[in-house]
Amino acid sequence: MTLTLHDIKVWNTGEVIDLVVPSDTDASVDASAMTIAPGFEDPHVHFRDPGQTYKESMISGCAAAASGGYTNVLIMPNTVPAMDGVKVEAGQPGASEVLDAGYDTVIDYLQHYEAAHGVKLPVRYDLCVCASKGRAGHEATEVADWIGYLPGHGDEHKDAYQLAHPVTAISDDGSAVTPSILEQVFENVKESGLYLIEHCEHHDTGAVNDGPVSRKLGVPGIPEDTELKIVERDIDMSRKTGVHVHFQHVSTAISFDAIRKAKAEGLPITCETAPHYIALNDEALLKYGTLAKMNPPLRSEADRQATIAAVADGTVDLLATDHAPHTMEEKELGFLDAPNGIIGLECAYA
Ligand code: DOR
Repeated sequence: MTLTLHDIKVWNTGEVIDLVVPSDTDASVDASAMTIAPGFEDPHVHFRDPGQTYKESMISGCAAAASGGYTNVLIMPNTVPAMDGVKVEAGQPGASEVLDAGYDTVIDYLQHYEAAHGVKLPVRYDLCVCASKGRAGHEATEVADWIGYLPGHGDEHKDAYQLAHPVTAISDDGSAVTPSILEQVFENVKESGLYLIEHCEHHDTGAVNDGPVSRKLGVPGIPEDTELKIVERDIDMSRKTGVHVHFQHVSTAISFDAIRKAKAEGLPITCETAPHYIALNDEALLKYGTLAKMNPPLRSEADRQATIAAVADGTVDLLATDHAPHTMEEKELGFLDAPNGIIGLECAYA
């Protein structure tokens, strides 16, 4: 018996093929309206496990990824406790989930998640370690606390070769690396041979993009150059140190211009944007309210057009969802208090 899928369009060539899959079912599926693609990889997801599993768990997050066509994800370190390699203390928020499962760091807990929970997750995942302890921005993490989890790090860490979920990047995602630890973090990144994933914003005020929409809503705005300041700072650090910096969810024309120039200079700079900066501008806040509140915020139509142009000309290296689930109760708190974040895994490709 065979399963025949007719007239399938191949994702990256547009070629139309008939796919014959050996099967024990005598079935024919009309797949003429479908697209066949390799499994997608998402280098930017928030799965909230441990600590905030009422928003998302490893199980629900991996299911969302699989249903959107993803086969690999990179988990950001703003779990509770944070994924910083430091031993979790009893009584700390989220600590019981880690300790009760029999592990003493978040990295170890996620390393052995399937065994500890008796589940088989449908996608592969790697881990991103914090740049600062507790992701608090005061003290850089200790390389010794996480270097043993790098893929194939070295003979003194033989287990690393077998790791199913290695640490493959460093980030304080949710915020940019703070100025007081910047040099130490770049040293750590260099020592580890990994790369820095930078959330390019420092702002204490502001909830949505600064502009006519923020004024109409009466909500404090986040200026566009908030993002640019971190992009420029880190391009400069990359030039000085040779460290690869990857900018997350870039959202403004002025940042894309700076990144374009840095790439033309030959610096080890890459960047991503997210589907929402391509599909939506800040007018979406008027329709969807806080469901469209995220960091960085949805920008102007001019910035949206600049984002599309940056994808088209290759300034954007990859698309990442920044899948960041929150509960409806939290999203109903109003523009000032609702948390930032929008989900994306299930609908990004579509
Ligand atoms: O909107 C966001 N939400 N941006 C981030 O960078 C973090 C994320 C979250 O974890 O909720």
